[in-house]
Amino acid sequence: MSHYRAVKGTRDIFPDEVIAWQYVERVIHRVAALYAFHEIRTPVFEYTDLFQRSIGATTDIVGKEMFTFQPDPNGRSITLRPEMTAGVMRAFLQSSRASEAPVHKLYYISDLFRKERPQAGRQRQFCQFGAELLGTSSPAAVAEVIAFMMHVFRLLGLTGLKLRINTLGSVEDRMRYRDALRAYLLPFSGELDAPSLERLEKNPLRILDSKNAAVQDIVSGAPALRDYLQPAALEEFEEVLGYLDDRGIAYVQDPLLVRGLDYYCHTAFEVQCADLGAQDALGGGGRYDGLARELGGASDLPAVGFAVGMERLMIALEKQGLLSELPVQGPEVYVVLQDRSLLAHAVTLCGALRDAGIRTEIDLAGRSMKAQMREANRMRAAHALFVGRDEVAAGAYGLKNLESSVQQALSLEAVITELGHG
Ligand code: HAM
Repeated sequence: MSHYRAVKGTRDIFPDEVIAWQYVERVIHRVAALYAFHEIRTPVFEYTDLFQRSIGATTDIVGKEMFTFQPDPNGRSITLRPEMTAGVMRAFLQSSRASEAPVHKLYYISDLFRKERPQAGRQRQFCQFGAELLGTSSPAAVAEVIAFMMHVFRLLGLTGLKLRINTLGSVEDRMRYRDALRAYLLPFSGELDAPSLERLEKNPLRILDSKNAAVQDIVSGAPALRDYLQPAALEEFEEVLGYLDDRGIAYVQDPLLVRGLDYYCHTAFEVQCADLGAQDALGGGGRYDGLARELGGASDLPAVGFAVGMERLMIALEKQGLLSELPVQGPEVYVVLQDRSLLAHAVTLCGALRDAGIRTEIDLAGRSMKAQMREANRMRAAHALFVGRDEVAAGAYGLKNLESSVQQALSLEAVITELGHG
C-alpha cells in the first residue's frame, strides 16, 4: 500500500459507486430538460474578489473557507470556487447573452471547494447540482426552481424531506431589520456564544439560525423580520407560496431561516432531510436580484436559484435503500481463449463485436480458461465466446449464454445477429 493518502476532506469514487452517481446525474439531466434548463460549465477558479463581492466579506465562506492562492508573485489572487452562483452570474454578464432572450435557465453539476472541518456529509471538495434562473423576479419563477429541485427528489423516490421557506424582504428592509436586531442583542452580549458575538458586529441575521439552545432562547424574544418588511414583499411571498400550493409542493414557513450567503433577498429556502444527521441541509437557495448590479452589471437582472449537495443526496438515497437495485452492467460477451497464441485472432474478433455495438471484454493477461470463466462470471457477462484452435479453423465460435448455459456454434456474423445487433 502506498503511503500517499487522499487529502483530508476529499474522496475517491470507484466504479461501483459511480454507477449510482451516473444514475442520479441522468435523472437530473432528464428533469432539467423537462423544465427547459440548459447546462452551463464555468472555470474551477475565479478571481478572489468575485466571491468576496458576491457571497459577502463577512460570511463564513469568504472569511475562513476559501482555497485562495497567488498564481505568481505579481498575479491577482485567485480562489477555487466555493459555490456556483457567482461564477454563473460572472459568466453571464461577461458574455453579452442577456440581450438574446428575456429569461435564461441554467443548471450545473459541478465540483466545489470549501476549507471546512471534514465530517460525514461535509467535505473540502464536494459536488452540487443546482440551477439559476436569470431575468425575472416573478414569484412563479421562484416556484419553478423549487419545483425543478423537488421533481428530482420525487423521481429518485426520496422521502422524509422538509422544505423550509422564508422571505428576507428587500435589501433595504433587511438593513433596517439588521440595525433593530443588533440593538436588541447588544444587551445580551455577555450571554452570547463566541460565534454569535462575532456575527453580532458583522452579520447579526446569522445569529437567528444558531443551533445553540441558550442563543435560541435569546433569539426567541427578538423583533421579527416580518415586521420590518414592506407590504409588497409580503404579498410577493404569499404569491410564491400560492404557486407552490398549486404545484402540490409541501413547505413549512420558518421566519428564522436566513442563509449563509449575503446575496439573497426576498424568498429564501432550504431542504432538510431527516436521514442526514448533523449535516441535514440537503440543499438551499433563493432570490438574488442585487447580484448582477453588485458585480458591475449595467442593468438590474433579477434572479433565483438553488443548489443541492450531491454527496448528501447520495447519503440520503443510500440510507433510504434507493440505490440498491441499480444494475451493474457487465459485458454482453466475454471472449474466452484456449491459449495465448490465439490472442491476435481474438482481439480482431473483439474489434468486430465492438464495432457492431456489442459490449465485449477479453482477458489480456493470458490466464487459464478456468480463470477467464471465473472472471466472466464475476463481471456478470451475459455470454462467453469460446475461441479455440478448432473454432478458428472452422470459423465458428462457441457462444454460451451464461444464464441458461445453452451453447451454440456460430460464425462471427451469426453471433452479431444472435445478440441483436445484426
Ligand atoms: P449552500 O447552502 O452554501 O448554497 O450550498 C448548497 C448545498 O451544498 C448545501 O445544502 C449542502 O448540501 C451542499 N454543501 C455545502 N457545503 C458542503 C460541503 N462542505 N460538503 C458537502 N456538501 C456541501 C449555495 O452554494 C448557493 N450557491 C445556492 C444557490 C444557488 N443559491 C442561489 N442559487
